[in-house]
Amino acid sequence: HSTDSVLSLPLAIAHRGLSAYAPENTLAAIQAAHEAGFQWVELDVQLLGDGTPVIWHDAGVNRCSDGRGKLKNLDWDSVQTFDVGSWFNACFAGERMASLKQALELIARLDMRLNLELKLSPGHDAQALVDAAIPMASAHLPASHLIISSFDPQALRLTRQRDPQVHIGLLYDDIPDDWQSLADELNASSVHADWRALTRAAASAITSRGHKLLCYTPNDAAAFAPRWAWGVDAVISDDPAIFSEEDREPTL
Ligand code: G3P
Ligand code: MG
Repeated sequence: HSTDSVLSLPLAIAHRGLSAYAPENTLAAIQAAHEAGFQWVELDVQLLGDGTPVIWHDAGVNRCSDGRGKLKNLDWDSVQTFDVGSWFNACFAGERMASLKQALELIARLDMRLNLELKLSPGHDAQALVDAAIPMASAHLPASHLIISSFDPQALRLTRQRDPQVHIGLLYDDIPDDWQSLADELNASSVHADWRALTRAAASAITSRGHKLLCYTPNDAAAFAPRWAWGVDAVISDDPAIFSEEDREPTL
C-alpha cells in the first residue's frame, strides 16, 4: 500500500547473509544464501571514515576480522588489508570486507532480494549514510526487491525524503505505542520485530493495518512456531532452512 511496487516475501530471509554457514555480512554469505536456495538476504550497512558504505554489523572490526579499530576511524584501503573470513572458519580465509556497491552488484547478478538495514553506530551520521546508501541501492535493485529498515527513525525519515517509492521497514526491539504514527508518516510497508518481544496483540495490530510483519532473529523453529498463527509473514534467521511452510499451516 505504501509504494507502487508489490512486496512479495518468502517464509525465511537469510540474516546477515547465510550467517550460520558463512562469515556474516560478506559476499561469501550472500553467495551461500543463494546456493542454499534463499532469494532474500538481510545485510547491515554503515559508513567508513572516508564515507564508503560497507556491509558490516558492529561499530568496530575486532569481532569479525583480524583487524582492530572502529569503522569511523578506518578507510577503504585499510579495511581491505583485513581478513574477515578466518574468524568464522579457516575455509573462508582471505575474504574481504564488502562495500555496499559490491554487495548490490552480486545481489543483482544473482537475481536476489535485499533487506538493507541502515545501522547507525554511535557517532555516525544518518544523513551521510542515507545519501550514500539509498540512491545506490535503488539504482541496483527494483523497488519490489528492496526493503530499507532501521532502528533509527531519523534515518528512515531521511530515506523517505530521498526516495518516495522505496519500501521502508520499521525495526524494533520492543514495539512502542506510537509505532502506527511513524508507520503512517513514513508510508512503511513492514514492521520488523524482535521475535522474543513480540506480543500477539502487537502482531494483530500490525497485520490488520496492512503491514507485513517480519521477525528477527529466531534460530529455533519449534520455539518460534506458535507465532506463525499470529500472522507473521517472514522470519529473518541465521539458519533459514530450519523453517518450513508446514509450520505455518494450522494444526488439524
Ligand atoms: O534487521 C534485523 C536484525 O538484523 C536486527 O538486529 O543486530 O542483527 O542487526 P541486528
Ligand atoms: Mg541487521
